[in-house]
Amino acid sequence: MSIREILKDMSYGPAPEDSKIVEGWLESHREGFGHFIDGAFTAPGETFEVRNPATGRAIAQVTQGTVSDVDTAVKAARKAQKSWAKLSGHERARYLYAIARHVQQHARFLAVLEAIDNGKPIRETRDIDVPLVARHFYHHAGWAEIAEDELPGLEPYGVCGQVIPWNFPLLMLSWKIAPALAAGNTVVLKPAEYTPLTALAFAEICAEVGLPAGVVNIVTGDGETGGAIIGHDDIDKVAFTGSTEVGKTIRLQTAGSGKGLTLELGGKSPFVVFADADIDAAVEGVVDAIWFNQGQVCCAGARILVAEAVAERFETLLARRMETLVVGDPLDKGTDMGAIVHPVQLERIKELVAQGEAEGVTLRQGTAPDGCFYPPTLATNVQPASVLSTEEIFGPVVTLTTFRTPSDAVELANNTRYGLAASIWSENVNLCLDIAAQVKAGVVWINCTNVLDAGAGFGGYRESGFGREGAREGMRAYLKTPAPKGKAEDLPAPSAVPHGGGGSDAVDRTAKLYVGGKQARPDSGYAYTVEGAKGPVGLAGLGNRKDIRNAVEAASKAGGWGKATGHNRAQVIYYFGENISARAGEFAARLEAFGAKPAAAKAEVETAIRRCFWYAAQADKFDGAVHQTKSAHVTLAMNEPLGVMGLVCPTGQPLLGALSLVLPAIAMGNSVVVVPSQTHPLAATDLYQVLETSDVPAGVVNIVTGPRDELAKTLAQHDGVDGMWYVGGTEGAAMVEAESAGNLKQTWTETDDARDWSGRDGQGRAFLHRATQVKNIWVPYGE
Ligand code: NAI
Repeated sequence: MSIREILKDMSYGPAPEDSKIVEGWLESHREGFGHFIDGAFTAPGETFEVRNPATGRAIAQVTQGTVSDVDTAVKAARKAQKSWAKLSGHERARYLYAIARHVQQHARFLAVLEAIDNGKPIRETRDIDVPLVARHFYHHAGWAEIAEDELPGLEPYGVCGQVIPWNFPLLMLSWKIAPALAAGNTVVLKPAEYTPLTALAFAEICAEVGLPAGVVNIVTGDGETGGAIIGHDDIDKVAFTGSTEVGKTIRLQTAGSGKGLTLELGGKSPFVVFADADIDAAVEGVVDAIWFNQGQVCCAGARILVAEAVAERFETLLARRMETLVVGDPLDKGTDMGAIVHPVQLERIKELVAQGEAEGVTLRQGTAPDGCFYPPTLATNVQPASVLSTEEIFGPVVTLTTFRTPSDAVELANNTRYGLAASIWSENVNLCLDIAAQVKAGVVWINCTNVLDAGAGFGGYRESGFGREGAREGMRAYLKTPAPKGKAEDLPAPSAVPHGGGGSDAVDRTAKLYVGGKQARPDSGYAYTVEGAKGPVGLAGLGNRKDIRNAVEAASKAGGWGKATGHNRAQVIYYFGENISARAGEFAARLEAFGAKPAAAKAEVETAIRRCFWYAAQADKFDGAVHQTKSAHVTLAMNEPLGVMGLVCPTGQPLLGALSLVLPAIAMGNSVVVVPSQTHPLAATDLYQVLETSDVPAGVVNIVTGPRDELAKTLAQHDGVDGMWYVGGTEGAAMVEAESAGNLKQTWTETDDARDWSGRDGQGRAFLHRATQVKNIWVPYGE
């Protein structure tokens, strides 16, 4: 471009970043890259080509990891794990700190390599990706130092299998590796096949800082290699970021394996603009929301919802701003949007947009050069059911629709199967916080968007996955609660298989079900005999799918419970405990009839009462945090209930076991559908009257007796259930985890059905963590 031309339209001239060092590095690896296993690079195996998406040029040959490569890497990680975990937190911190320093020393190299490999603009890799990578390692060096004091009683998982996507290759690597190492785990990580190069450069940094061999292993390859890591028997925890589709496959693949699992998946995040928003700032917000990283961002604000009153002005300003975006050479410092990561992804974007066009949406587009580029795109006239409103496009395409009232806005915002993020724009902070509380999303940005920091948790609700990365909540995802110790005494006889033996006449003498605050006859009309130590002790309703569905419906209508104050909930739970206490003798007698020795029965009831008081006490104390993140931001980490939870209770200690699940769940504001001990359900059905007299609102606790695993299956499959706890057999646990994949509900399974619930590990904060999900709300302040 000549100076005359530049002066004509006042656009910037080209300002390419020098890529010589990266070219030299690629040249020095011309023979191809092997994996990084046990502290050294392997010789390249069968390789695949990696291309620079902006030029289409092949830049490297990278090894396709085989099952045997993965096995070697897992073995190396296993061998290294014990001594890595044995190091003091301080020693581990020194390594993480050294990695952070070296990332900073190589910052320019990494930024250029990332831009070449991924296609994202150098301005982003230089100013966002790489600084955040260093920040992540510094932050987690800190966690390594203090985790023992700050997160006591937890232990590392062991070996972590981690699979990451291509949209933030190095940043996602740091989100995975830093907390895992800080917690004392070792890792086998697979970068995405489109963008493996910065992970390999990172491996060199690990070698450079002298990280002990086997602590970090990088295996390259495609989804098959990823599958081999996730399916490897000796992996203790799986962490995945990528598409919801693959996330569900991984949920199925890991079901019943006992592996820890966190999933950070797709999104279709709303960007809500109220009439009193600073419109210019909100327009600039859209640029950061959807045109950042070519829209290839899981938390991208992909659905603009704008108040009708300002919609026209907003759209005009936005369209004007869109036209000024410069799409082109990622290495040019003046480029706003670079290349799409791969022609396959470009094709996917084009196809989805074509489907939208066929549905009649109106498109406005900026400009983009030929090649693997896509112009910034604004779609209006979009119906909520349009593919452009529902599908994650993962490209620079945003939809714009209008709303009238704040409650319309909330409804539209939540009209998605995802729940990763939301951005809310209004000068009225009360309104913003009110909407933030109602939006189902793990991250909410008020008057800002796509702000990321290691000090805040990140992760989704619903089909955007579960678990958090970053901050205290992210560290917890790499530490586990030790296995429970001790067996329950007086274990009941093996579970009776329910049958329709009671007959319909017997139902009137039978403990019914408890649904929506009322005792309900089971849909089947049948009951089953409950055996005691000396023969039958009664009949229990034989619940079926229909009863579970009714119970879930009743539970979902009890949403007011989650909005009640912790103080309100505490009062109800205290009262509940008091009322059990008033009938302690009856409860103990019931347990004795099941065969418990008198002292054990009495102790079980007493512990159950104490447990009521403990969780009542926690109801208004298990609070979140104000995280230390960016300057001039308050980042609020709020513990929110999951919603409706299915609780499948242990066989033994039928009163204490059931309450050990119910109490933490309801203390945190969930409503629950409880499947009590199949063998001794009457210990739970005796609670009906206590529930009725304790002011527990209708629908908060629903109880369905009957065949445990059948009922558990219906609960796990139900899309209205947000969380599932199951105590029972290994097969049942595997079934629950697999069936939960449908809506990716959070699960916790315990396969030691004979465990003792009376000890300290039968209650505690671990249960409260499992009953909640953290929402991080970012509120900037100042000018
Ligand atoms: P993907 O989910 O297939 O790939 C992400 C990672 O998972 C890659 O490392 C890949 O090799 C690996 N992988 C694929 N199949 C696997 C399997 N069965 N087991 C284990 N690992 C497996 O995403 P893809 O195909 O690259 O992109 C497709 C769409 O997914 C995008 O258009 C976008 O909508 C979404 N996506 C979402 C991301 C997010 O951060 N939420 C990131 C990447 C893609």
